[in-house]
Amino acid sequence: MANLNILVMNNKGGSGKTTVATNLAAAYACRNVRVALMDCDAQANARHWGQSRSDDDLPIDIQFHPDPRTIDAAATASHDVCIYDSAPAITHGPSLHLEFETLLKLSDVILVPMLGSSWDIQSGEHFITQLMTQRVWRAKPRPIAVISNRVGGSSANHQRLQNFLSLLSVPAVTTLRESPVYPEAGDSGQGVVEMKHNRAARKEFKAWHTLTDWIDSQTESASTARRPGRPLAAGRQTPTTQMPELGNIR
Ligand SMILES: Nc1ncnc2c1ncn2[C@@H]1O[C@H](COP(=O)(O)OP(=O)(O)OP(=O)(O)O)[C@@H](O)[C@H]1O
Ligand SMILES: [Mg+2]
Repeated sequence: MANLNILVMNNKGGSGKTTVATNLAAAYACRNVRVALMDCDAQANARHWGQSRSDDDLPIDIQFHPDPRTIDAAATASHDVCIYDSAPAITHGPSLHLEFETLLKLSDVILVPMLGSSWDIQSGEHFITQLMTQRVWRAKPRPIAVISNRVGGSSANHQRLQNFLSLLSVPAVTTLRESPVYPEAGDSGQGVVEMKHNRAARKEFKAWHTLTDWIDSQTESASTARRPGRPLAAGRQTPTTQMPELGNIR
């Protein structure tokens, strides 16, 4: 297994799973770590993103596993970080339930991108509840965090999301703005952290830095004994991934 396995998941379509997975892969590539992006969605958006990258871009090993049960966990050991982009509606249907379980087993950290509308929050609440009551997760609780995506001018929905999350003790670790730079990055096979000459992209650097900092903190806590008061720290004894500073994306 890779040192660090990050699962990006939410039942809700269009919540930003692929946006988060691809941008996070680029953020880790900027740290010069060996990063793999596992596209576990038959829509193949992450794979297409990878195909738009050029030889001059930082390397990211993109693999397509529409059925995550085909992933050879041992073969991912050659990567420092593996990011899994999952399909929508992953918990619906008996075979998808197995896929959900497979991805959970592979993961050290789970990121749930969520939009701020009441329907998205309702679905997100249901999904996180399913996640936290799933037997694989209960046997070894992994850290879960929400990424508030497409946050615009109005903070009313955002506040509603924060209220819901505080009830579950799940942090909303970072906030991504509603910005045309995300579809632009998606089309060009870039992560926003790689778009250093783009002003709108630079405005987003801090959000990605906050996210990778949070992941680092969870990975560190997973390599030590679980501490009281940190119920979401991963139980698995994952070796800490030693990664260079994110100086280039700060
Ligand atoms: N912060 C953002 N600002 C603007 N557009 C965004 C943002 N995040 C995502 N998008 C756009 O929203 C659309 C859906 O995002 P994305 O494909 O990442 O969602 P998804 O959860 O992977 O969808 P699916 O469930 O179909 O796999 C894409 O066109 C993407 O470019
Ligand atoms: Mg997607």
